[in-house]
Amino acid sequence: MDKLRIVGRKRLTGSVTIGGAKNAALPAMAASLLTNEPITLTNVPDVWDVGTMRRLLLRLGTHVVQPSLDEITLTTARLASDEAPYELVKTMRASVLVLGPLLARNGRARVSLPGGCAIGARPINEHIRGLEMLGAKVSLEHGFIDAKTEGLSGATIRFGTVSVGGTENLMMAACLARGETVLENCAREPEIEDLAELLARMGASIEGAGTERIRVHGVDRLHGARHRIVPDRIEAGTYLIAGALMGDDVRITECRPSHLGALTDILDRIGVSLVIGEDSLSVRAADDDLVSIEVETAPYPLFPTDMQAQLMALLTQARGTSRLSETIFENRFMHASELARLGARIELRGNRAIVHGPTPLAGTNVMATDLRASASLVLAGLVAEGETLIDRVYHLDRGYEHIEEKMAGLGAEVERFA
Ligand code: EPZ
Repeated sequence: MDKLRIVGRKRLTGSVTIGGAKNAALPAMAASLLTNEPITLTNVPDVWDVGTMRRLLLRLGTHVVQPSLDEITLTTARLASDEAPYELVKTMRASVLVLGPLLARNGRARVSLPGGCAIGARPINEHIRGLEMLGAKVSLEHGFIDAKTEGLSGATIRFGTVSVGGTENLMMAACLARGETVLENCAREPEIEDLAELLARMGASIEGAGTERIRVHGVDRLHGARHRIVPDRIEAGTYLIAGALMGDDVRITECRPSHLGALTDILDRIGVSLVIGEDSLSVRAADDDLVSIEVETAPYPLFPTDMQAQLMALLTQARGTSRLSETIFENRFMHASELARLGARIELRGNRAIVHGPTPLAGTNVMATDLRASASLVLAGLVAEGETLIDRVYHLDRGYEHIEEKMAGLGAEVERFA
């Protein structure tokens, strides 16, 4: 099991290029099931979860050509199976994104229930309820979601909970439903707009993606397309925080600053100096102490839960008492106890973390528990005195492309070892 060794306190300078968004690439790959023609995706990130989705699509009968690490062509001329097996779904909940496309394409889909996850129960009741409203018969048997339909028909569906995956699954299914579907109380993440852009290129008729109301006019079939995946706003945000901690002059390129407004506002308020460009950001560590702050995670465009752990690492260096409330997932503070091993002073009260600072951090052994928690430990290791050893970095590899190379390229002393 790979580990990362970080020797902290190194100043960071130079530029880092952001890759395509994992959370856009995964639904885009699932969307390829909606047609029997080739879907070519570029700017695909080289991360573990993309590999898992690739393995799942191969099982379903998709022909995969990957001429380079960041380009993939997916063609499902015919399905070899309509089942997403437990051994793949249990390693990546986003496998559930094949449910809508499979059902719309094939009239039948059997997807293993994802099961629990480190950060929360993460039910998929919204996905199931929406598919039933589109005319599917869905049963839950032996740990599988078994969905069937003679043909989906448009409906007006209001989400009870704002759900990124639920919005994506239903938007994809509605593309091939008869008539019009209106989705209300939708998630508004940029990855949903990116998926809608791909679907439109495939011949779908979708309005309102990125707003809380999406209108889909069903079509008989979708055709092949080529699409460039949107830059990863969470990867960009993670390097922004690295620069805020130890940067002399860090430039983050090929990103979309407009997708990071909630984070850049917060960094500005706590005293981090930023220069915001069209498709790049520059950041350097503040000369004086950062100012503590109160932040609550919420659906886009507010502060993203996927940046909560990384911000916590930064707030250990802010003067005073900061408060971080996690409103999306019920168990997303596992990084707090690992940060405490490095010397951070954090109190957990329900869904609120109280962070006292600034606290000098000292390197030691820590363990990654989930994707974004592991990023938080890398950031803390950059600012800690001495050596930090991070175990179970496979969590990192799920969503960060070559993080040790990119960080070392900025001047960090980071190496991976088995
Ligand atoms: C997506 O997960 C992202 N994953 C997550 O990123 C991200 O944290 C999350 O959206 C929130 O922004 C991908 O896009 C692959 P949700 P998803 O459905 O779709 C509840 C990362 O680190 N809910 O928006 O699974 C759910 O329990 C990952 O890259 C229901 O109650 O998230 C949660 O509390 C982690 N019923 C809230 O809604 C449902 O049917 C938001 O979940 C669906 C969700």
